[in-house]
Amino acid sequence: MLNGSGTFDAIAARRAFGDAIVERFPFDAFVSKTITAEPREGNPPPRLWETPAGLINSIGLPNKGLHGFLESDLPRLAELPVPLIVSVMGFSRDELASLVASVGGRDEVAMIELNVSCPNVETGLIMGADPSETARAVERVRREADKPLIVKLTPNATDPVAVAVAAQDAGADAVSLVNTLKGMALHPHTGEPWLGGRTGGVSGPAIRAIALEQVASVAARLEIPVIGMGGVSTGRHAADFMAAGASVIAVGTESFRDPAAGRRIAAELAGLTLAGSEPAPASTVV
Ligand SMILES: Cc1cc2nc3c(=O)[nH]c(=O)nc-3n(C[C@H](O)[C@H](O)[C@H](O)COP(=O)(O)O)c2cc1C
Repeated sequence: MLNGSGTFDAIAARRAFGDAIVERFPFDAFVSKTITAEPREGNPPPRLWETPAGLINSIGLPNKGLHGFLESDLPRLAELPVPLIVSVMGFSRDELASLVASVGGRDEVAMIELNVSCPNVETGLIMGADPSETARAVERVRREADKPLIVKLTPNATDPVAVAVAAQDAGADAVSLVNTLKGMALHPHTGEPWLGGRTGGVSGPAIRAIALEQVASVAARLEIPVIGMGGVSTGRHAADFMAAGASVIAVGTESFRDPAAGRRIAAELAGLTLAGSEPAPASTVV
């Protein structure tokens, strides 16, 4: 059980809930918020909109940049009782490769996740929306990394399976999916976009059915492990993603409601597995 990148701030959680949250850590490995080479302020507020069954976020990847991350966050994340996966994003293949080389050179880091939901400034294409862009990015960073590489797929691709196959063939050790779906909300009075970044990413129960289908389609074609996420909030949902072919589950939006959701969902999943019973239809376990 992992956290979805950017949905659980382990350093802030420790400040808010004390060492108890570390001692009974909700996840089996921790995925950092995506870091970029340079510091980023993120998008102007408002950054969140609640939908009937989820969230639209337009956070815009605020982060301290590589140097700030290595100096101030990495030592604290290394104190967590679980392996650390660092999520990185670059705006060109070379930038991504140098991030991977710097982060991958640190003993505290167990694996690296490539967040490819961003434009390549050289081509204007979203790296993860295009199979050949993804292949070239993964091939480039593969040379820099001895550590396992996870490629985080975007659901906003025309053919996510083709992108997943390209990532695998270029040397990815695992894929994770789904990232958020592009969405928008309007201000009820002005009709202008509500979010400071105009559009955002939809997550939570609203996207679960879409995520489940994409996980099933990708897992059917790949030999490498699939990390499934998108609206998982109960053990039943996690069981569905595993039945669809995921080997690992990640929990994102649900952690905002219940910071211990990862642990709870893992326990519910274990209960279902131990009971060995025919799972009840999801609609009866909402
Ligand atoms: C507030 C917020 C911030 C996020 N930040 C990141 C991020 O920095 N990097 C990333 O790869 N995904 C990010 N995500 C996407 C999640 O990791 C996850 O892929 C997505 O939310 C679907 O899972 P969920 O429905 O369980 O939240 C973010 C999602 C949310 C809601």
